[in-house]
Amino acid sequence: MLTDNLNRKIDYLRISVTDRCNLRCRYCVPSAGIAKLPPQEILSYEEILKIARIATAKGISKIRITGGEPLIRRDLVFLIKELLRLPGIGDLGLTTNGVLLKEFALSLARAGLRRVNVSLDSLLPDRYRWITKRDYYSRVQEGLIEAERAGLSPIKLNVVALQGFNDDELLKFALLTKTKGYQVRFIEYMPFGDGYEPQFSSFSLAEAFSTINRYQKLYPVQGDGVAELYRFPDARGELGFISPISRCFCPSCRRIRLTADGKLRNCLFSDEEIDLKCALREGGSDAEIEQLLFKSVRKKPPGHMLQDRSISNYHRRMPLIGG
Ligand code: GTP
Ligand code: 5AD
Ligand code: SF4
Repeated sequence: MLTDNLNRKIDYLRISVTDRCNLRCRYCVPSAGIAKLPPQEILSYEEILKIARIATAKGISKIRITGGEPLIRRDLVFLIKELLRLPGIGDLGLTTNGVLLKEFALSLARAGLRRVNVSLDSLLPDRYRWITKRDYYSRVQEGLIEAERAGLSPIKLNVVALQGFNDDELLKFALLTKTKGYQVRFIEYMPFGDGYEPQFSSFSLAEAFSTINRYQKLYPVQGDGVAELYRFPDARGELGFISPISRCFCPSCRRIRLTADGKLRNCLFSDEEIDLKCALREGGSDAEIEQLLFKSVRKKPPGHMLQDRSISNYHRRMPLIGG
C-alpha cells in the first residue's frame, strides 16, 4: 500500500483532466495568460483509467477530478462512469467552477457521481465578474440549483479568502448555510509565486471565525477532510475553514496529484514530478507504473514552506495542477 516516509497513508488521488478553463480568476491566471498544453500532451481517458486502476489497487480509495475546469473536457461523464467501476474506489468527487453544471449535473448524477465542490468567491454578480473576468454569475447559480435537483450532495462551496475583495461577505456566505444545505468553505489564499496582478493576500480565517461566531454561536462538526467544520444550530448546511498556511495540515496529508499532462506530483507545492505519461507511452508495464507511484510517494516532502513567503515561486500555476 502507498505509505510515505513519514508514515502518512496516501489514499487520495486528485486527477486534473484539463489545463483549460472558462474563467480567468485573477488570483489564478496571470494577466498575460498561461500557455496551453498541446492536445497530444494531455492524457487520454484510457491512460487516466490505467493509472487509476493501478493506484486503486495500491490503496487509493478517494479520487477527485479537477482541472482547469473539468466540465470543459469532452465526455467527462464517460470517465466518471469508468472510474466508478474500479473495485477500490470509495469516494469520487469533482471540483468545478459551476459554469457548466446546469448542463451536466443530471448526467453526472446519473453516471453515479454523488457530490460536487463548486468554486464561488463572491455572492455579488459584479464582483464575481471582476474576479473571474467573465459574466457567468447567474450560470453558476443555475448550476447550483440543477446540482441540488439532480441530488448531488453534499454540495461544497469553495470561497477563496481574499483581503479587500470578499472579507465583507463573510456573514452573507455564513447565512447561506441556513437556507441551503451547502457546506460553505473559506479557503486561505495561497500565494503561487510572483507574476500576479494584483497580488492578493488572504484575510485571517481565525478572525473570520470569530466574526461569524460573535454574530451567532457556531458548533463544531466532525469532518474527515482538510476543513474545520462548524454549524449554526438552526442551519441546514455547514461552514468550513481551510487554512493550509495558518493551520498547516501537511502532517496529515493523504494526497498525490496527477496533472493533465500525466505528471505525478507528490505535493501541491513541490515541482518534483514523475512523468507517468512518458512511461505509459513507452509501453511501460503495470508493474513499472506501480513502481513510479511508490517512488513518488516515498519522496513526498513533509510539507510546503509557504510560511516563508520568499520561496513561494513555483513552476506550475494552479490551473495546471488542479488545486
Ligand atoms: P473534499 O473531498 O470534499 O474534502 O475535497 P477537497 O477539499 O479535498 O477538494 P477541493 O478541490 O474542494 O479543495 C479545496 C481546497 O483545499 C483547494 O482549493 C486548495 O485550496 C486546498 N487544498 C487542497 N489540497 C491541498 C493540498 O494538498 N495542500 C494544500 N496546501 N492545500 C490544498
Ligand atoms: N489559494 C487557495 N485556493 C485556490 N484556488 C485556486 N487558486 C487558489 C489559491 N491560490 C481554489 C479554487 C478552487 C480550488 C480547486 O482551488 O477556488 O476552489
Ligand atoms: Fe478560476 Fe479555477 Fe479556472 Fe483557476 S482553474 S481560473 S481558480 S475557475
